[in-house]
Amino acid sequence: MNSLFSKYYDTLMGPLERKYFARIRVDLLKEARGNVLEIGSGTGLNFGYYTHAEKVTALEPNPKMTRKASQRATHATVPIEVIFGNAETLPFEDNTFDTIVGTLVLCTIPDPEKALSEIRRVCKNDGIVLFFEHIRLNNRYLGKLQDFLTPVWRHLCDGCHLNRNSSDLIKQIGFKVVGETRYFRNICVTVIAINKK
Ligand SMILES: C[S@@+](CC[C@H](N)C(=O)[O-])C[C@H]1O[C@@H](n2cnc3c(N)ncnc32)[C@H](O)[C@@H]1O
Repeated sequence: MNSLFSKYYDTLMGPLERKYFARIRVDLLKEARGNVLEIGSGTGLNFGYYTHAEKVTALEPNPKMTRKASQRATHATVPIEVIFGNAETLPFEDNTFDTIVGTLVLCTIPDPEKALSEIRRVCKNDGIVLFFEHIRLNNRYLGKLQDFLTPVWRHLCDGCHLNRNSSDLIKQIGFKVVGETRYFRNICVTVIAINKK
């Protein structure tokens, strides 16, 4: 784990959050209902935006991130429990959650297909999944530029891939997409999908 990235994550994200990302998170997370699981919750940047959830379980494998997240959880308006764990092996029974959330996380998870299968398993039938991700561009040159930059980027940003087709992965694994919004000339996307079992 790149400890500098964890240490300065909030500082690095601050300008982007204030100018662009916060409103995207607000719009997406107002859809989160009932018993919610957030995967790779990082420092808890989403926590203040849960308004309709009954409770949130926030799963995160990096202890440097969970420390900040636990502090943020105490200020949230809904109960939030921060736990240690990986999205590829979710420590929950089948059909546990009404909503599962992932923001800027499928880019970093080492095995995103396995994580998505696990999300399908622990999400109830007709449950909702909410994602906000950056993705590989379709543009021939810019997509290749993302491929070229990814090895260095991964090293600097704790495993983050600039060139993942995360929105395609969500569809391929079997979720029924009911809403997809592109941002910033298609480099970011929010996906709202239903888990049909
Ligand atoms: C770019 S950060 C995003 C954090 C947060 N979701 C946000 O929106 O600010 C990526 C996060 O994914 C987490 N992560 C890495 N591997 C993971 C895995 N296997 N399962 C779950 N989360 C993982 C990292 O520790 C980090 O907190």
